[in-house]
Amino acid sequence: MESISKGLENVNIKWTRLTTIDGQKGILWYMGYRIEDIINAKASAEEIQYLFIYGQLPTKQQLDDFKKKIQEGYNIPDYSVKSITNLPRSADSVALQMNAMASFAATEKFTWNKQTDRDYAARIIGQMASVTSVAIRHVLGKQPKLLEPSDSLAKSFLKAVFDREPSEKEVEAMNDALILYLDHEVPASTTAGLVVVSALADIYSGIVGALAALKGPLHGGAAEAAAMQFLEIGDPSKVESWFAENIKSGKKRLMGFGHRVYKTYDPRAKIFKKLAQELNPQGQAKTLYEIAEKLETLGINEFGPKGIYPNTDFYSGIVYMSLGFPLQNNIYTALFALSRVTGWMAHFLEYVEEQHRLIRPRAVYVGPSERPFLPIDKR
Ligand code: CMC
Repeated sequence: MESISKGLENVNIKWTRLTTIDGQKGILWYMGYRIEDIINAKASAEEIQYLFIYGQLPTKQQLDDFKKKIQEGYNIPDYSVKSITNLPRSADSVALQMNAMASFAATEKFTWNKQTDRDYAARIIGQMASVTSVAIRHVLGKQPKLLEPSDSLAKSFLKAVFDREPSEKEVEAMNDALILYLDHEVPASTTAGLVVVSALADIYSGIVGALAALKGPLHGGAAEAAAMQFLEIGDPSKVESWFAENIKSGKKRLMGFGHRVYKTYDPRAKIFKKLAQELNPQGQAKTLYEIAEKLETLGINEFGPKGIYPNTDFYSGIVYMSLGFPLQNNIYTALFALSRVTGWMAHFLEYVEEQHRLIRPRAVYVGPSERPFLPIDKR
């Protein structure tokens, strides 16, 4: 039998100038810049979004113009708001984002065009931010609220969701989360979106495809699932017994652990952990942080020798919780998507504009050989 590449492991589907990963050493570069250097330099999310969309770091003037383009996207039309609010408040937040993005796929006349694609992408970052605010507010039982321009996307977003002026520390943490999740080469979501746009479907449809893949618990859904597992444990004193009963026994996978590419500690997980500490979690977030730390030690002892370590989703939920986002309705994965939409679009642009070909793999047939077809009354 011909061999297949299960899970497309180690298959290169495109070249990229965007992101590269050294999975053995645990290093992540965004266009040559180390993720730690970007965070330590206190870069704004918009600077890094610009880097991905336009291929270089912006000047002050370019950054100001880019922010204005993002802000043009904030004012999403009523039909996209309704595509969210028409659904029950018990809905999954990522599915709500999918609905709103599908409403744009239905109505916006997007066609691939090198002259306009990048400005379009900037606007979509703004649209996605308002969509995410409306989706989160909806599942929290609040009226829709769009973003209003301020000096940063992180600030406008927190203000829209929570109806209050966020502190500088909160804005910084939200900004860093936007950067940390921004891109990661070609995981399942980016690949799913690439398949969609390889057929020359519009950019919004590509985003819907990517969101659908992100939602799964083995990918972005792990952001919520990891925090849910801390909640299920409930108390730091129960970590050992929970681990023995559920993980050591092989009953469950440890969520927020393991990665197809990293065989060591994910550098983003280290930064998320530091962010969680800096936010000085209180109440439920404090308890979950204590549980996570204990679980991390047990997980590394158990799985470290197999190259399975905390990934980016292990501590991100605690950061989101400390910022005030409740652990419900897949909100944490929707926040991941708000960040990743930039990486998706940057990959789509690279692929469609410079290396386009319909993605159409093959399957090795292992079914029956030719046989007569029996009508239903003869079976
Ligand atoms: N807990 C327990 N065992 C694990 C885990 C885990 N988290 N991850 C991998 N393994 C084991 C797995 O059971 C298998 O063991 P064996 O060879 O004995 O059958 C082996 O490792 C290989 O697993 P795999 O699923 O074939 O490997 P993969 O390269 O496809 O794994 C993964 C990647 C992310 C699907 C997996 O590590 C996983 O399920 N992790 C938990 C979910 C998670 O945290 N996902 C987030 C991924 S990173 C960020 C993101 O995309 O959002």
